[in-house]
Amino acid sequence: MKMDQSDQQSALCKLSDIGVAGKEVRVNTDAGVHWLMIFHREDRLTAWQNACPHQGRALNWAPDKFLFSEEGLLVCCHHGATFDLANGRCSDGPCKGAQLKAVEVVVNDGEVFLKVNQ
Ligand code: FES
Repeated sequence: MKMDQSDQQSALCKLSDIGVAGKEVRVNTDAGVHWLMIFHREDRLTAWQNACPHQGRALNWAPDKFLFSEEGLLVCCHHGATFDLANGRCSDGPCKGAQLKAVEVVVNDGEVFLKVNQ
């Protein structure tokens, strides 16, 4: 994902705004607007394009509202595909074995930025 110059200098959000339930973030890129989802679980920050491998739809059902299984897997709100946030892999559902697209982020002074040159 190639970023606009302005995005290289703007934080996506504050680290403290990301709970275990996740946060949805809008990013402007050369190719248009992208939506990311960021999770902070067990001291690990992971970020993904918010596009389900099944039909490319956003996984959340409302802004910043993501579903999780009892086992802690992310569940797509449309057709129930489940994803392991440790690796982004779909463990069950209509796109079983497919992969969420990871996005590299870095934290600086408590704010989350896209990693430049990805
Ligand atoms: S769009 Fe996510 S499971 Fe169908």
